[in-house]
Amino acid sequence: MHSFGYRANALLTFSLTILAFMCAISSLSDSLNSPSPSAQVQVLNINWFKKQPKGNDEISVTLNISADLQSLFTWNTKQVFVFLAAEYDTPKNSLNQISLWDGIIPSKEHAKFLIHTSNKYRFIDQGTNLRGKEFNLTLHWHVMPKTGKMLADKIVMPGYQLPREYRR
Ligand SMILES: *[C@@H]1O[C@H](CO)[C@@H](O)[C@H](O)[C@H]1NC(C)=O
Ligand SMILES: *[C@@H]1O[C@H](CO)[C@@H](O)[C@H](O)[C@H]1NC(C)=O
Repeated sequence: MHSFGYRANALLTFSLTILAFMCAISSLSDSLNSPSPSAQVQVLNINWFKKQPKGNDEISVTLNISADLQSLFTWNTKQVFVFLAAEYDTPKNSLNQISLWDGIIPSKEHAKFLIHTSNKYRFIDQGTNLRGKEFNLTLHWHVMPKTGKMLADKIVMPGYQLPREYRR
């Protein structure tokens, strides 16, 4: 009896050691992977641009988002969450970040994509700062691993500017 309990315990300890070792190896091989993702975004159209009755600026744009995030995927990658944000500064805030589009990439086969879409989430300023505003479009991602730490990074695409006048 005594020896059976002891052996079961030893076996469990051994399995846990192997498991911990495999997790460590998989996180390590993830951190050794140096990905080289790329992204381009074009603002194809300004659909409309107005001041809301409450006084906040709102704009609707059509975007052409192309990205190749295949190199983010390793055998330890469960999925990748991506979002595209418009980022700009205003006198009140040094960083305003507005998510315009997001998606979950389930596998490497889906990680190279071209999306033609109007903004999925509303592009509203907390004020009337958008006319002529220079902004960056930043593609952010979170890599969700099967084991280990989540990794986050981004590509900043600077040099966009909103129209100087409202448009219907
Ligand atoms: C969208 O972007 C892709 C890649 O940059 C480009 O090949 C394509 O022509 C663009 N589409 C439009 C409608 O501009
Ligand atoms: C936009 O990108 C430029 C260049 O990377 C950076 O210097 C600037 O701080 C960015 N603006 C905002 C509001 O994040």
